[in-house]
Amino acid sequence: MSAVAPQASPTPIAARAPQRVDAWWVRPVLTVIVLAAFVVYATWAGMQNAYYWADPYLSPFYSPCLAANCAHSDVALFGDWWKWSPAILILWAPGGFRLTCYYYRKAYYRAFVWAPPACAVPDARAKYYGESRFPLILQNVHRYFFYLSIPILVFLWWDAFRAFRFADGFGMGVGTLVLLANAALLSLYTLSCHSCRHVCGGGVDRFSKHPTRYRLWKRLTVLNERHSQIAWVSLFGVALTDLYVRLVAMGTIHDLRLF
Ligand code: FES
Repeated sequence: MSAVAPQASPTPIAARAPQRVDAWWVRPVLTVIVLAAFVVYATWAGMQNAYYWADPYLSPFYSPCLAANCAHSDVALFGDWWKWSPAILILWAPGGFRLTCYYYRKAYYRAFVWAPPACAVPDARAKYYGESRFPLILQNVHRYFFYLSIPILVFLWWDAFRAFRFADGFGMGVGTLVLLANAALLSLYTLSCHSCRHVCGGGVDRFSKHPTRYRLWKRLTVLNERHSQIAWVSLFGVALTDLYVRLVAMGTIHDLRLF
């Protein structure tokens, strides 16, 4: 019977000093500020139940509009009995997609719970369980949020093309470009998702037998390598798109008509 070497007791946290002397804390602090600001803004905008429709622009926080009480309903699945903000019916899906995103998980584990806050900086807690236990094991639902994000993207593109249809006919305003840019950024975010890459190229023993999937996987890999940058840009994009529609709907700014 082989002897098992006794495990060394973990080094006390206080004794584990960071091995870095640079400003490693800047990134986690910025992450906290930006993510907290986004969550506060998106919650406030979603709960407002006003200023999300400025004909022909619909805020992405309310798309698709699924309730009969929508200023501009896409598919009124919920009848007159729904009295609350229609954003509640839809925001949980893109919100869950972002919350469980592999990249954001890394970012907010580092920023909010310091697990660990940066490379070569000790974890704030004595033990590390990763995502092997409840509740973090639930992060595995990410792939299902990915599936849910596909129909939402279709609606966002529909909103972007509908933004060419003004009361006096076909045209284009700055808002049209804003909605198009938002749909494009969110498409890049979804296509660069790790789950998307796995769905398209995973579970294949030999790529030589699946040349189409291989080509798709290679292209998605190029996007996937930039997923973190796309995640931030698309986050700002969707918030600014809502803000633009909101300000136009409130009459604070006027949408410039290009033709
Ligand atoms: S959206 Fe980031 S990994 Fe899926």
